[in-house]
Amino acid sequence: MADRSDITKPREDNYAEFLRRIPKVELHVHLAGSVRPSTFFAMAQKNQLELPDVAPEELYGYDNLLDFLKVYNLVSRSIRTREDFSRVTYESMEDGVKQGNLRYREMFFNPTAHALEGVDYRTMMDGILDGVRAAEVDYGARCRLIPAIHRRHSPDIAQEMMERLVEEYRDDIIGLGSDSGDGTGRADQFLETYRFAQRNGLRTTVHAAESRNTAHNFLYAVDVLKCDRIDHGYDIVGHQTMVQRAKDDGLWFTCCPSALAVVLGWKDRANQPIRNMIELGLKVTLNSDDPPMFRTDIGNEFVETCIAMEFDDAEAEALCLGAIDASWLDVSEKRSMRGQFVRDIATLRAELLPGHS
Ligand code: ADE
Ligand code: ZN
Repeated sequence: MADRSDITKPREDNYAEFLRRIPKVELHVHLAGSVRPSTFFAMAQKNQLELPDVAPEELYGYDNLLDFLKVYNLVSRSIRTREDFSRVTYESMEDGVKQGNLRYREMFFNPTAHALEGVDYRTMMDGILDGVRAAEVDYGARCRLIPAIHRRHSPDIAQEMMERLVEEYRDDIIGLGSDSGDGTGRADQFLETYRFAQRNGLRTTVHAAESRNTAHNFLYAVDVLKCDRIDHGYDIVGHQTMVQRAKDDGLWFTCCPSALAVVLGWKDRANQPIRNMIELGLKVTLNSDDPPMFRTDIGNEFVETCIAMEFDDAEAEALCLGAIDASWLDVSEKRSMRGQFVRDIATLRAELLPGHS
């Protein structure tokens, strides 16, 4: 019998390339978590931030959320000047474009983390927007911004930040989120700030039900904070009333396979709760969260997850188009982006997966 290995292999390679190059929208990535390690070390040295005296592999060697967040905070503290903010924003977008054909992103940043380090609000905003604009000019990829409440900071600090953001509003700010582990404090303590953001026309999301035994935070997110979208949400799997509630409300979840694999204890990518969520009929998007910190990028999230979960090209396409629906673009922007994606995916399929039209 003929050896078929040389027949099947190109098809797998082509499929991985298809997944990497399929156009993408990304809705869950943190600016500080997307800083290249080389840029982090260079900025830390320039800005005289003392780092633990360990090898880079050891520093990036966390295997749980809390240890990861300690390093994440260090990276965040290394960004100080307008040029630093511009550089990390530009590089983060560049990496998304080059490694995953990123077309549009809604990206978190933590204003109060930088403010507590003495960084002036305008320095931060101007730098981030310089980077956003430069990446759009060079790559055509757009980015809108989601300031995130740091859950370890007080509700007063969060409220002050939101008032400043509204006072000096920039069009690129599209919503409000909150991060840090959802075991570290109930997000509903920030209710006043969520209401304030909503009254000022911003959309809202929150990191909720991310770790084990945090499903109750999903209910705070929907019933109390009245969020439009949920970041992570895995722990609601197994809670039938919560799953039904998410389906009834048509809620979108921004899921992050590499965060699950690296710090949340789900190494087996084929059987991560993202799979259960999709099988239960929940609306899921794939995202990289903190790409270099989880040794990933948005292209890799699609390659690893779709191959491990055996999603075919039509299912991968549905994930990409779903992320447009889950975004906070307005209806006409969504319509034109969807048209462009459908055309580009057809071209890509013809090139890489002939016979799959
Ligand atoms: N900040 C950055 N990434 C995070 C995550 N996955 N969970 C909570 N806070 C974060
Ligand atoms: Zn996150």
